[in-house]
Amino acid sequence: MSKPTLWLRCEKKEFERRAALTPTTAKKLIEAGFDIFVEKDEQRIFDDSEYEAAGCKLVENNTWASAPKDVPIIGLKELPVSDEPLPHTHIQFAHCYKKQGGWSQVLARFYKGGGTLYDLEFLNDENGRRVAAFGFHAGFAGAAAGALAVAARRQGKDLGLLTPYPNEAAMVDDVKKSLGGSGKGLKALVIGALGRCGRGAVDLFRKIGLEENDILKWDMAETAKGGPFPEILDVDIFVNCIYLSSQIPSFITKETAIAAGKDRRLSVVVDVSCDTTNPYNPIPIYNINTTFDKPTVAVDVGAENPPLSVISIDHLPTLLPREASEQFSGDLLPSLLEFPQRSTARVWVEAEKLFKEKLAEAAEAEGLV
Ligand SMILES: NC(=O)c1ccc[n+]([C@@H]2O[C@H](COP(=O)([O-])OP(=O)(O)OC[C@H]3O[C@@H](n4cnc5c(N)ncnc54)[C@H](O)[C@@H]3O)[C@@H](O)[C@H]2O)c1
Repeated sequence: MSKPTLWLRCEKKEFERRAALTPTTAKKLIEAGFDIFVEKDEQRIFDDSEYEAAGCKLVENNTWASAPKDVPIIGLKELPVSDEPLPHTHIQFAHCYKKQGGWSQVLARFYKGGGTLYDLEFLNDENGRRVAAFGFHAGFAGAAAGALAVAARRQGKDLGLLTPYPNEAAMVDDVKKSLGGSGKGLKALVIGALGRCGRGAVDLFRKIGLEENDILKWDMAETAKGGPFPEILDVDIFVNCIYLSSQIPSFITKETAIAAGKDRRLSVVVDVSCDTTNPYNPIPIYNINTTFDKPTVAVDVGAENPPLSVISIDHLPTLLPREASEQFSGDLLPSLLEFPQRSTARVWVEAEKLFKEKLAEAAEAEGLV
């Protein structure tokens, strides 16, 4: 039998520096008997030479379409829009199972080419939890952006352009520097503190020097009494990290922020959960997603009151591409090691079953059957 093989493709989405396979995980797969092809990619946070040193075979940028049809292609984000049929097996986030814009056209490419999609968002363990997700570094980076916004506000400014950091230490240093050396004295509230994003936010606040008592960690038990919560108005930064699954009372409203008047301490809300357009968004004080070049949106709380802004960036882990990739890829590794047995390994069998269901829906929607 030929060796199990994976082909890491380049990422074509602008600003995406993360990778589904890192040199660390590629090395472990090679040690387990895999052949790993890696497309050269300037955009990726890891140098091509790091993959080469790990034993990967480098191939030219964006050449996966010419790979043998039985070689599975792994990547992170969506492929560029096209109607080219897809004959390969792809492992990636495709964002086409929840009827997102263009969902049926994406799946129609697999239908026409006979390929298979294993969507990374739907690889679950036996308890239905994702085997790999980017949450921790989303929370970490979101909390950092919040602290940077407070620092900017102290100088009477809005937070400017955010750019990816080479590593976590550089991010922590930058945040501390912007706060005059330490975050000590700041007070933060994290809701959803027991989850992936929440733990990341708490970790950042610790690393920039907040006192433990000044990091309020709330989860289900603390919000059970139902919002709005006056406690939110009494911290500098509120980070929302909950996984919203049903309608819940708002955590904060524009009215409560206005009613707090001139004495309100809250300066920045970081909505990591970003349920921006969800009718049950528990933070109904903004309605757009913000971006790296304009990270904050102002809440209209009246000129007589201190400013309040929201950060609602929906791809925060991109700010820490190296650590976010290492963590994600490391969590994915046990499943990748089972990939050669995908016809019987539970995680892959379930993902393929879901793909086939979605494929059938798309074929009908596209009038292909
Ligand atoms: N902005 C980004 O870049 C980005 C990146 C990754 C994930 N996310 C989003 O962040 C959210 C959280 O993801 P996660 O992986 O951390 O989820 P998770 O399931 O690991 O954690 C969610 C936490 O929220 C808690 N929670 C749920 N409802 C709550 C409530 N009403 N009150 C208090 N706590 C509550 C849960 O108990 C859990 O501890 C998701 O919506 C996810 O899509 C955003």
